[in-house]
Amino acid sequence: MKTKLVKMDALKEAGEIIRAGGLVAFPTETVYGLGADAMNSEAAAKIYAAKGRPSDNPLIVHIADMEQVDLVAENVPDQARKIMEAFWPGPLTVILNKKETVPDGTTGGLKTVAVRMPSHPGARALIRESRRVIAAPSANTSGRPSPTTAGHVMEDMNGKIPMILDGGPVGIGIESTIVDMTGEVPMILRPGYITKAMLESVIGTVQIDPAVSGRTMPEHVVAKAPGMKYRHYAPKGKLILVEGEPDKVIAEINRRAQEKEQEGFRVGIIGTDESIGQYCTGIRRSIGSREHPDSVAANLYSILRECDTLALDYIYSESFFEKGLGNAIMNRMLKAAGYHLITV
Ligand code: TXA
Ligand code: MG
Repeated sequence: MKTKLVKMDALKEAGEIIRAGGLVAFPTETVYGLGADAMNSEAAAKIYAAKGRPSDNPLIVHIADMEQVDLVAENVPDQARKIMEAFWPGPLTVILNKKETVPDGTTGGLKTVAVRMPSHPGARALIRESRRVIAAPSANTSGRPSPTTAGHVMEDMNGKIPMILDGGPVGIGIESTIVDMTGEVPMILRPGYITKAMLESVIGTVQIDPAVSGRTMPEHVVAKAPGMKYRHYAPKGKLILVEGEPDKVIAEINRRAQEKEQEGFRVGIIGTDESIGQYCTGIRRSIGSREHPDSVAANLYSILRECDTLALDYIYSESFFEKGLGNAIMNRMLKAAGYHLITV
């Protein structure tokens, strides 16, 4: 199959592909998504095939208007309505009880459905143009970092899907916050740009699934979002995170990097705008500024992809505070590092 990489003005044709049961990759404010008609089981099945994704890992249904919630969900709690009003359109996915009509192929056989209204105007325009609700996971090959540019999608999906809509680099760079609203207490299943504190300011107490908030490999807890149990976001080289006092972290990374270089390995270092000048070896990249955690989130996945392009064997990275957005950043980085974290 030939994959067309087109600008957002090709929306009409994109909508036709979705209606015909085909796949279109499109930008959202978080990461690029790989979309199909959510109510068409065969279309959803194509997503799993293109990504090489395990079929028990459910998809997020993307909507463009508030009324579409009731197409896919029922018994929607008042508290869920409140956070949808507060944070939609935006980087928040809400788990709700699913309507019978949503195929198992979309929800991986679950009785619940994940729903999100993206704020990216191109994403919403595509949903409206298609006159469908769109099931979309991140548009990467399963196990690779999520795509934040159309070029990343092309790397993974070329020849596998008919069309990629290029809306330029995404704004946020990490996937939406997922919150389960079907239990007693709202539960964050995946941390993201919308933080626990932001949710709590609207609906009171919210918990974080212990499987996604720890700094060590969750052994005795099973992640409640099926997708969070798979190895994710991982570069091919070995990623090692170092945390502690800034000066000690820099010294430790320099020491370890030099050691590996002397052994003949290709070594990369991920620092920040504030620290990058103090590293003295390896291929060095700044992931952004500590003053602006948004910039760190925005660059994270493209840097992890670049580690593969550069065929690095070892990558040493600084780690990030775990408050607010830092919690979401560290969740992704720890997974990418297989929880390899050194404290100095
Ligand atoms: O920002 C995002 O959410 C992006 C863009 C494209 O919207 N999408 C995304 O989709 O990250 P994906 O498939 O890569 O991640 C969806 C996550 C998976 O971990 C999946 O297991 C979880 O959502 N999920 C989906 N439906 C669920 C459900 N009913 N219950 C619990 N977790 C669910
Ligand atoms: Mg994904």
